[in-house]
Amino acid sequence: MIDTQAINQAQSTLVEGQPVWLFGYGSLIYKVDFDYIERKPARIDNWVRRFWQGSHDHRGTPKAPGRVATLIEQPGSSCMGMAYKVTPEVFGHLDHREKNGYLRFETPLHFADGTEVEGLVYIATEENVAFLGPASEADIAQHIAQSVGPSGPNDEYLLELAAALRKLNVEDEHVFAIERHLLALS
Ligand code: SIN
Repeated sequence: MIDTQAINQAQSTLVEGQPVWLFGYGSLIYKVDFDYIERKPARIDNWVRRFWQGSHDHRGTPKAPGRVATLIEQPGSSCMGMAYKVTPEVFGHLDHREKNGYLRFETPLHFADGTEVEGLVYIATEENVAFLGPASEADIAQHIAQSVGPSGPNDEYLLELAAALRKLNVEDEHVFAIERHLLALS
């Protein structure tokens, strides 16, 4: 099995003492258990947020994985999220938190004022063993409704993300459609 935590730790993108921007699009938007210097909403281009990644360690188990967000490449689209300016030290904790399939990639981040910086983003690509891939939003909601893991129920991840996106005035049809199906189940 690929050890994404080891691959991330071996990367040479972080320079001691030099803060870096990290783009969050899933739980990193609403669960901020790390120190940051500054944060502001940001956009990355050519990616969409999809609940296509399995979760063995947070919102499910290896036998009954939950479903969480990853980014899927889609030219011409964009994804809104929250960017955090952090020191390199926080990546020890974050690489552990994101160890179930997420690799760190470099990407340009765009801010509302038109400025752009090179930043980092965790993406679970389809090569990772926990990747589940596409399903209808109704099926994803059903899957989420019955999943739970060490970090809590899977529906909490979805509902907290939807609420956080609304607060940021972000329209995400995929996330909001899953939310609608999920709420209709209860
Ligand atoms: C992210 O939020 O940016 C990565 C995926 C997650 O931790 O939910």
